[in-house]
Amino acid sequence: PAPGWALTADVVVVGSGVAGLTAALRCEAAGLRTVVVTKARLDDGSTRWAQGGIAAALGEGDTPEQHLDDTLVAGAGLCDEDAVRILVTEGPDAVRRLIETGAHFDESTEGELALAREGGHHRRRIAHAGGDATGAEISRALVEAVRARGLRTVENALVLDLLTDSDGRTAGVTLHVMGEGQHDGVGAVHAPNVVLATGGMGQVFSATTNPSVSTGDGVALALRAGAEVSDLEFVQFHPTVLFLGPDAEGQQPLVSEAVRGEGAHLVDADGVRFMVGQHELAELAPRDIVAKGIMRRMQEQDAEHMYLDARHFGADMWEHRFPTILAACRAHGIDPVTEPVPVAPAAHYASGGVRTDARGRTTVPGLYACGEVACTGVHGANRLASNSLLEGLVYAERIAADIARSRSENGLHARVPVPVPHPEKPAHPLLAPEARFAIQRIMTEGAGVLRSAESLATATGRLQQLHTDARDALDENGKTSEPGVDTWEATNLLCVARVLVAAARLREETRGCHWRLDHADRDDADWRRHIVVRLNPDRT
Ligand code: SIN
Repeated sequence: PAPGWALTADVVVVGSGVAGLTAALRCEAAGLRTVVVTKARLDDGSTRWAQGGIAAALGEGDTPEQHLDDTLVAGAGLCDEDAVRILVTEGPDAVRRLIETGAHFDESTEGELALAREGGHHRRRIAHAGGDATGAEISRALVEAVRARGLRTVENALVLDLLTDSDGRTAGVTLHVMGEGQHDGVGAVHAPNVVLATGGMGQVFSATTNPSVSTGDGVALALRAGAEVSDLEFVQFHPTVLFLGPDAEGQQPLVSEAVRGEGAHLVDADGVRFMVGQHELAELAPRDIVAKGIMRRMQEQDAEHMYLDARHFGADMWEHRFPTILAACRAHGIDPVTEPVPVAPAAHYASGGVRTDARGRTTVPGLYACGEVACTGVHGANRLASNSLLEGLVYAERIAADIARSRSENGLHARVPVPVPHPEKPAHPLLAPEARFAIQRIMTEGAGVLRSAESLATATGRLQQLHTDARDALDENGKTSEPGVDTWEATNLLCVARVLVAAARLREETRGCHWRLDHADRDDADWRRHIVVRLNPDRT
């Protein structure tokens, strides 16, 4: 639809988690006219839910080189080493700048940063806040800074599509805004630079740690715009998510890896620590290995979940170190102080996303991506715990620096967007809102923790059917489901689900968090490479 209102800026940042707000603050500090648009409220994304913390070589004796080694091992042969080196060397100062921006991290009695351990880390290097409420503190500090500096923000603004000029360069975005007064309805922000920081796509599965807003909007937009997307098959399943029943749907409570970092044990129904002997780090092995260990033992025992036992922490430690998790467990009738906590893996993090270079540039000129929506190459086949907040910080800062540098080298040229075409039959029929649940079931059954050629083929067919049904539902006037947040979200979920499944079918090996039952081994000869997808914009 044609925009009904428009704003103009040098940069529009889409999304308001750690990556988006860091990019926006740095762009504004560089004198760029910056607008932040976000789908719900400024603090409604995944950042707020992050528990464990932010990894960086900040402790005595730790070095970026050791952080690099742990990241490369977790990434199972697919990390881009240069991208990781940037992450781990720029990370410590980026965390210090976050502290200067106003985030308060927990400290030891000596006044040093208190550092925790998580899976895959050989050292204590995870800074945390409020015990297990790190993301909430980071979000609070960044939102306050954005408000204090008077940045222009538009909330309740779902991004629709990228606007480009006649040379195919970025010229802004179209948005669907609800309840924001003068900017209500479909509108646009015209800007020569767009920073995608829309977060992940956990809602493509039935049970996920991600909030309901994580519907892959940025990846879907990028695909429709013809940008390259990489590594979508590497969906990370967090090993320890509170088990609320086999049919639990939507956002599920996380039980942070930091609980294992402080010495909690994973046990089966007989109380046996089944990770011991499977990996030198036992419960603190990289996340994919622990998730697989749990799934295997569940299969062997025909069990729906395993247990995390941290009764030995005692009430005082639970209350002070993990107050958020304690409250979530108790809200569901489980008391970790006196009983083991039932846990099972659930979808947690998209290691892949919109492909970028070291400056955060995508393959569409003027379009940048950072945070979970991006694939910078730092995560490879399996993200190391607590590297995600760090990646959001470091690469957002790099993007702001790149835009500021381009401005001083070339000036910022206003770009005239090519009008959005109105084909007789839209290329992207909007799905009915209920399709979201069908997609989630299809993906959980066919492309979840355990995958096979057969399960992925079934998922492909069922997703294709949803697409065909939506097309067939177009009447002669090309009418489709009423545009709105839930129809766009369902449409975006289908778009990313189809590409994810296609990539998972192609990758005939088991590597990192991609687990193929029919190809049980890692195959470095054929598969030490990335699956990069670029859609023909007319045929998405
Ligand atoms: C957690 O606290 O276990 C989550 C950390 C992460 O996803 O990196």
